[in-house]
Amino acid sequence: MDADLIKLVNKLQDTFANLGGELDMPQLAVVGSQSAGKSSVLETIVGRDFLPRGQGIVTRRPLVLQLIHTPVPEDGSQTYTEWGQFLHIDKRFTDFDEIRKEIEQETYRVAGQNKGISKLPIHLRIYSPNVLDLTLVDLPGLTKIPVGDQPSDIERQIRSLVLDYISKPNCVVLAVSAANVDLANSESLKLARSVDPQGRRTIGVLTKLDLMDAGTNALDILTGRVYPLKLGFIGIVNRSQQDINSNKSMIDALEAESEFFKSHPAYRNIAHKNGTRYLARTLNQVLMNHIRDKLPDMKARLNTLMGQAQQELNSFGDAAVYGDSNQQGALILRLMTQFARDFVSSIEGTNLDIS
Ligand code: GDP
Ligand code: NA
Ligand code: MG
Repeated sequence: MDADLIKLVNKLQDTFANLGGELDMPQLAVVGSQSAGKSSVLETIVGRDFLPRGQGIVTRRPLVLQLIHTPVPEDGSQTYTEWGQFLHIDKRFTDFDEIRKEIEQETYRVAGQNKGISKLPIHLRIYSPNVLDLTLVDLPGLTKIPVGDQPSDIERQIRSLVLDYISKPNCVVLAVSAANVDLANSESLKLARSVDPQGRRTIGVLTKLDLMDAGTNALDILTGRVYPLKLGFIGIVNRSQQDINSNKSMIDALEAESEFFKSHPAYRNIAHKNGTRYLARTLNQVLMNHIRDKLPDMKARLNTLMGQAQQELNSFGDAAVYGDSNQQGALILRLMTQFARDFVSSIEGTNLDIS
């Protein structure tokens, strides 16, 4: 995640907290058919390997993943700075492989061993200096045919579960479709459209570009000629099952993906607008726009507070301001001035007008 954005959000959150308010950041949820690559995409956004991925139904409970920014301790007192903490178990996980195992265990415990799903979310917090305070939600894939322990109305159940998350106006929807399936059959876009008809908070993500039939490509989709979305479509190449089995690192996968776009005859010219890194940047932009929308509210709050402080000062009379006897008025004035200065510099330091 972008370091400047992390810094800005933290500053604004502090400022808002000082104002007695809250800078509520959006939630981000992935929607798509089973095995479209939802978990893979989320994982690369976080930048760590820790989500169960694979063929068939792997994600069988919602995973509500709260990223929490923790500054690096300056005194070096901590040997690690990134860790995970589940709501259901009182333990600090510093090994991300163990986090994945715990998610699997906890899925089995509640949703059973045989492909059943459960609405009951797993809550996981990741503490890291490399993230900003954001909630990501990994969701089970949309399916049609019940398998294993799944009830006959599995399609309806998953749909309603997904809608619980993506119908919130504060939710940014990553609508994931696999490029080797016809987009006309994309369940994710249908569902996203039902909650976001204007396409304002939906990002189209097209995975598995590497698996398309020879002689075909997704250029028309990626350039917005097939399905219009304000935030557009971004093509992705995630790690294949073979890559997962052979423990291909995230860095190597990102490099291979970037090479794929740059060397592909159909995508060469749009390579800079595709890939996981570009998706992360787009996400940053969506978050920036969200924050920018919140600024007028912050300014209004600030003005009210300033007005209150001024009134208080006036009520002390001249003596309060100029006399030695009353330090209180001067103190408030100093605090408010300092505060206003911090506020202004936190906004001015960043170019929010990036759309
Ligand atoms: P989910 O069910 O939507 O969460 O999908 P997963 O992230 O679990 O991925 C399902 C399977 O598809 C895994 O075996 C992944 O390795 C594979 N996969 C996902 N995205 C891609 C991709 O872009 N290219 C290739 N070749 N395989 C992918
Ligand atoms: Na899967
Ligand atoms: Mg999944």
